[in-house]
Amino acid sequence: MLLETANLNAGYGFLHILRDVSLKVDEGEFVCLIGPNGAGKSTTLRTIAGLIRPYDGRVSFRGQPINGLAGHRITQLGVSYISEAMNLFTNMTVHENLMMGAYTIRDKAFLRNQLDFVYSLFPRLEERRNQLSGTMSGGERKMLAIARGLMSNPKMVLVDEPSFGLSPLMTKAVFEALDLLNRERGLTILVVEQNVTLTLAATNRGYVIENGRIVLEGPSPALAADEYVRRVFLGI
Ligand SMILES: Nc1ncnc2c1ncn2[C@@H]1O[C@H](COP(=O)(O)OP(=O)(O)O)[C@@H](O)[C@H]1O
Ligand SMILES: [Mg+2]
Repeated sequence: MLLETANLNAGYGFLHILRDVSLKVDEGEFVCLIGPNGAGKSTTLRTIAGLIRPYDGRVSFRGQPINGLAGHRITQLGVSYISEAMNLFTNMTVHENLMMGAYTIRDKAFLRNQLDFVYSLFPRLEERRNQLSGTMSGGERKMLAIARGLMSNPKMVLVDEPSFGLSPLMTKAVFEALDLLNRERGLTILVVEQNVTLTLAATNRGYVIENGRIVLEGPSPALAADEYVRRVFLGI
């Protein structure tokens, strides 16, 4: 198993959010965690990424425990976290933002390769390499955030709400890029989303979280057909 959380309990101070969250992502999978606003999706990703220290439970990557490690150590091990807020450096150019994503890389030739790779994936970013990121459109910024997350050459990415703030067309383009990365580059992806229909169509397998607990899991097509999911999330 590439990534595994076992009975993860986490939250903010005394505010206990995640309750015994156990999920697994195998190498090469494209997995989603779906659920309503406030269910604990982002908290789950932040805990895996090392930004929140769990109360108890375990997070392991390639069989090694990673809970308690600092975020940059987890990045170095091959897990890249792309937050919903994106946290771009708005006064820096596209190119400079990408370089910030590569801070763990020392090898110049390797860095050059990574740049070529993300520019080939998102040619629009190359056209705009000297533009300040703060002046770009929402969709372009999302692409930049994803590209920056890929600069460290991760084995796995944790993507928080790629659809957030984007038009349906842009959202589709972002999911297509993720799908390509998964199928053609073997990138393992755990995506968190509120847009249930699109996400279940794009992923292999999924978990449903409510009030900090995993309430359902299964292959994405089965979840899309599940009566509970259809009633609660799709209003069908
Ligand atoms: N920094 C924080 N401090 C305190 N509570 C937080 C913080 N971030 C999120 N929460 C709370 O944790 C709960 C889960 O939030 P979150 O994981 O962001 O949900 P989701 O991503 O599923 O919408 C919510 O009740 C939210 O208000
Ligand atoms: Mg969230």
